[in-house]
Amino acid sequence: MSPDVRPLIAGNWKMNGTRQSLGEIKAMAEGVMGPLSDRVDALICPPATLLYVATALCTDSPLMVGAQDCHRNVSGPHTGDISAEMIADCFGTHVILGHSERRTDHGETDHIVRDKAAAAYQAELTAIICVGETEDERDSYSTLDVLRRQLRGSVPDGATADNTVIAYEPVWAIGSGVTPTAEDIDVAHSFMRSELVRRFGDEGRHMRLLYGGSVKPANAEKLMSIANVDGALVGGASLKADDFLAIYSVYEGLIAETL
Ligand code: 13P
Repeated sequence: MSPDVRPLIAGNWKMNGTRQSLGEIKAMAEGVMGPLSDRVDALICPPATLLYVATALCTDSPLMVGAQDCHRNVSGPHTGDISAEMIADCFGTHVILGHSERRTDHGETDHIVRDKAAAAYQAELTAIICVGETEDERDSYSTLDVLRRQLRGSVPDGATADNTVIAYEPVWAIGSGVTPTAEDIDVAHSFMRSELVRRFGDEGRHMRLLYGGSVKPANAEKLMSIANVDGALVGGASLKADDFLAIYSVYEGLIAETL
């Protein structure tokens, strides 16, 4: 946790979920209605097909709903894509950008991710910009070089603590059941914090830095207690309300310790 930074637990459903899964979102919306919602934010990012119905389920809940990608243009001939404005039109508040699966599957470069983030700001969405090294990059000790390059290339100059969240997702930790050591996460997050403070000053100090990659109820408390880890971007364990809420609830203990 960072001082004065409000944690965020965000779920990324990826290409999972049909209307049948909406019960899970309803249970999440109800599960985050307690007093912890004054201190911790919760967000779920279902596939775009469920976005509008999901936001309708959350109107009376602090659970926010976001999307998993947007196009860098406002509109036009881009078959299959959705714009940031369309997400906002469905009452989405956030958009995940530059996830490693998009960088790999769709060849998204830092430059494209930066343009998408700028499009998100235009639509008054918060961009969750993902960064993280591959296994080969980790093995060649280039993690911090990769993070520096991705942060510089993917985060627009207009980034603030309100419109931008950074998610550190080591590619090799995604869906693998393996996480970096607490020490390695600490080093990566401290490095990102110093890069962001150097570039954005006080805004960088308050930007949320999420950790993502095999976050589960069993390891969430340990991961969320690392300095400069201001929440999680959760994949598989966000598909079930029980697991998502168990991860969110680790802050009951962590916040009590800081009071
Ligand atoms: P898992 O939690 O399934 O490892 O996925 C992490 C992720 O990619 C979230 O964006």
